[in-house]
Amino acid sequence: MTIISIKNELTKALHGRYAVPLFDVFEMQGMEGVMDALTEKRAPTIIGIYSPYAALPNCRALAAYVRCRAEDTDVPVSLMLDHGASVDQCLEMLSYGFTDVMYDGSSLPLEENIANTRRVVDAAHAAGVSVEAELGHVGMGDQYDSLGSRGLGFTDPVSVEHFVEATGVDFLAIAFGNAHGLYKGEPHLDLKLVAEIRRRVNVPLVMHGGTGLSDEQFRAAIAAGISKINFATSIMNTAADNMRLAAAKPEASMFDIYAGIRAAYSQWCGRLYEVFGAAGRV
Ligand code: 13P
Repeated sequence: MTIISIKNELTKALHGRYAVPLFDVFEMQGMEGVMDALTEKRAPTIIGIYSPYAALPNCRALAAYVRCRAEDTDVPVSLMLDHGASVDQCLEMLSYGFTDVMYDGSSLPLEENIANTRRVVDAAHAAGVSVEAELGHVGMGDQYDSLGSRGLGFTDPVSVEHFVEATGVDFLAIAFGNAHGLYKGEPHLDLKLVAEIRRRVNVPLVMHGGTGLSDEQFRAAIAAGISKINFATSIMNTAADNMRLAAAKPEASMFDIYAGIRAAYSQWCGRLYEVFGAAGRV
């Protein structure tokens, strides 16, 4: 049984200078693709359920499915709420058996973000669940040329110590030129900012918005102090491409078409475990 809170694995990653990935899954085929890759590569893994999908009626059942499949392997697997939209949503996920939650108060004023994160931390820690919060705001890649490239939303290094101490948070997502979805223009990461934040706090640091970054950028971000990397959009796009290709054949069955989801996850995850240095860590 290896459904675990990811805290120990992220601490190991911090000291070993590699990164544990979070992959968002939406249904069973994607989970099976991650399972193929993590059992082959023996890499600790976080399965993310993205907040809007955590609000759907089937989330409790999907969480149970992920937990059951994690128990079928001896590789550590965490189930984490990704971008928790409210304190209440985070608390609800505790009752669904999530092992970790992210509360995303990054669009709120600092003191409100701190107060809400603190409430989540108090409840989660009582249940043995670890918490990620976001300071600064990681925006969307389609606005990247007007926002990310101008440093808007970047994490203020001066406020990180106060934020971590006041909230008691376990992991911190930071903004330093990373963005969700496809980047408009070339992504530029401020690695000096990552290194400065790394020096100021001891908690593992998280990079959202893995899609669109090069292998060199991943390695440089990890060397600067990133220990967890969230990656989603490219996997979903590859799955959609695979399904379109399969569906173009008139004789394609439902099974042929949705096999494209599993293949996309197993290929991307297997590759990223190697790039992030997570392969073989179990
Ligand atoms: P991408 O979709 O850009 O890879 O980012 C995923 C993410 O950060 C999920 O939290």
